[in-house]
Amino acid sequence: MNITIITLDGPAGVGKTTVARLLADRLGISYLDTGAMFRSVAYTFGEGAWELPVDKLVPQLNRLDFDLEGVGGNSELLLNGYPLPPEIRSEEVGLWASHIARIPVVRDFLRRNQQAIGRTTPLVAEGRDMGSVVFPEARFKFFLDASIEVRAKRRFDQLRAMEMEEDLERIQAQIRIRDDQDRNRSVAPLRPAPDALIIDTGLTDVNGVLARILDVISRQS
Ligand code: DC
Repeated sequence: MNITIITLDGPAGVGKTTVARLLADRLGISYLDTGAMFRSVAYTFGEGAWELPVDKLVPQLNRLDFDLEGVGGNSELLLNGYPLPPEIRSEEVGLWASHIARIPVVRDFLRRNQQAIGRTTPLVAEGRDMGSVVFPEARFKFFLDASIEVRAKRRFDQLRAMEMEEDLERIQAQIRIRDDQDRNRSVAPLRPAPDALIIDTGLTDVNGVLARILDVISRQS
């Protein structure tokens, strides 16, 4: 099968990470979590960094270098050679990531890093703008979607499994802010690429979503 890049986009809590990992496992290729890149930048720069002027952000960005190692569920993103800190997974840092993701120099910097990884490694690339902006030439593009209630409950269960205390209503409110911000920003807003297949993850469990994607890939390969 001649698969180079499969893009998997969608809003917060839609189940992209679980599907992307399983898909990468099944195909024996790497998995790139671009949300983790935005989260790491937000966490490294700290709260309020999105207010900094561009000339302060650029030198800080130039000190960061992301690498991807491993295959399938064992794919691991490294920042300057080190694993990403678990703290990036909180909803609060997710919101910081959404703020910093509005800034064009941040997006440009990460886009270049993502494209450099994609040039050398077959990938399942997960994010908001993988099919629309970063890998517009990708052969297979999927966009996962679900209601905010389904997504908030999923995030709540995930955070509980990681033993991170969270409150369902607060998560729903934070996801609503992020949705609004990610969909309405002027650069690379969250929206399906015109040639992406849209899948509602509220209607099928993860195995159903995976089976649908694998079916499309095998029929078109
Ligand atoms: O997928 P996630 O929840 O880990 O992403 C965190 C935030 O990062 C998300 O709210 C918006 C931003 N993001 C983005 O703008 N573009 C991407 N490709 C991935 C994430």
